[in-house]
Amino acid sequence: MTVLLLGASGLIGSHCLSLLLSDDRFDKVIAVVRRPLNISHPKLVQTIVDFDKLDNYAAEIKADAVLSTLGTTIRKAGSSVNFTKVDYEYQLKVAEIAKRNGAKTFILLSSAGANKRSMMLYTKVKGEVEDAISKLGYEKVIILRPSILIGERAESRPGEAVGQWVAKQMSFIFSGPLSKYKGIPADTVASAMINAVQKPYKGVDIVENLDIFEWAKN
Ligand SMILES: NC(=O)c1ccc[n+]([C@@H]2O[C@H](COP(=O)([O-])OP(=O)(O)OC[C@H]3O[C@@H](n4cnc5c(N)ncnc54)[C@H](OP(=O)(O)O)[C@@H]3O)[C@@H](O)[C@H]2O)c1
Repeated sequence: MTVLLLGASGLIGSHCLSLLLSDDRFDKVIAVVRRPLNISHPKLVQTIVDFDKLDNYAAEIKADAVLSTLGTTIRKAGSSVNFTKVDYEYQLKVAEIAKRNGAKTFILLSSAGANKRSMMLYTKVKGEVEDAISKLGYEKVIILRPSILIGERAESRPGEAVGQWVAKQMSFIFSGPLSKYKGIPADTVASAMINAVQKPYKGVDIVENLDIFEWAKN
């Protein structure tokens, strides 16, 4: 099976990449990235693209399954327009091209609270991209909605650091009704995404935060 990975340089994407490369069920991994990854592997093909001109790379956006961990933050993107470009337009464009080229499966990393009717831009855009990709006609679309991600990253994200601290040090808060918001380790999310590729399923499925822990197990 050939898998195309978006976001391979990111926190979740890099975990997905390691799992895919070490798993014999996957013959080839195409990482579509904007700059080269510092890794080489016989199964890995790096496709360096200009995300604003994805149609130019259509022939290379061809795989059995697509995993997307692409995303930015409104702060990092600098504007709501730029945020929407990455989290909506780029992901949808790759999904459209890959579908045209025969992909059957799309695994989308979204977020807890995703809702196209949300008043908050972040959760609204997440909901809109979920909706748009679900309507492309893939045989299988699995959407994961994690709460706060727990993992090391090189860049500083003060808001996320506070969230991670609360998730780890005050985990007792996330019992009972709030348990659905408990922090989730990056490698757990990545394992669930890889298992989702293999899971026999037809249609669109949404996997909420607590269920991601279960999906990661099998
Ligand atoms: N942080 C959380 O707690 C949290 C919670 C729930 C859901 N999520 C969502 O989960 C997903 C993955 O999160 P993550 O923490 O793994 O993300 P991350 O570490 O920030 O990685 C994001 C990936 O997207 C790529 N990317 C960002 N801006 C880009 C652009 N303008 N053009 C091309 N590629 C671009 C990055 O490539 P470069 O390395 O080239 O920048 C990187 O590969 C995101 O969609 C995020 O919204 C996050």
